Amino acid sequence: MKALDIRVLGDPILRTDTQPVAEVTPELRQLIADMFTTMYAAEGIGLAAPQVGRTERLAVVDVEGARYALINPEIVTREGSARAEEGCLSIPEVFGEVERPQRIVVRALDADGKPFELAADELLARCIQHEVDHLHGKLFVDYLSVFKRRSALSQWDKLKGDYPGLIRKVVAGMEKKSKSRSAEHSATAAGEV
Ligand code: NI
Repeated sequence: MKALDIRVLGDPILRTDTQPVAEVTPELRQLIADMFTTMYAAEGIGLAAPQVGRTERLAVVDVEGARYALINPEIVTREGSARAEEGCLSIPEVFGEVERPQRIVVRALDADGKPFELAADELLARCIQHEVDHLHGKLFVDYLSVFKRRSALSQWDKLKGDYPGLIRKVVAGMEKKSKSRSAEHSATAAGEV
């Protein structure tokens, strides 16, 4: 198990559209495993391939034990609307309130290449939408008002010096062993994804 380097805001790959996955190969399965390892090491609830410097249309999520690899995900239904705070593993320590549909249905392939459909609401729905955005070069800060975006980006300008080469290093196995980890995330609804 190895944790991959996380790319942070400023790396152009975060603004690049991904390529649909044509075939689930052993190499892709290894990437999925490494992405889960990276996400857990960073104590996140979701991670998309561009965040680890890759261009495959692939994301992983684990929201309170709802654990999915999403290959070529497409949101096919959106309902309602909800506002909540979001963060991003690629913009550490910066948070902002984002309004999104409350319930979605996503269609994707699983790690075996089998198609599936998943109905999600609340935090899982938010997390999946955030990840699907990543797969199309979109970040949560794009949803903020001009004023709030400017303030988030100036906050990031002061923080990004901590990430030489726009790389965030994480180490597998170093995450806090807190039993309430998922509860913390749901309480704040601000899990970094
Ligand atoms: Ni993110």
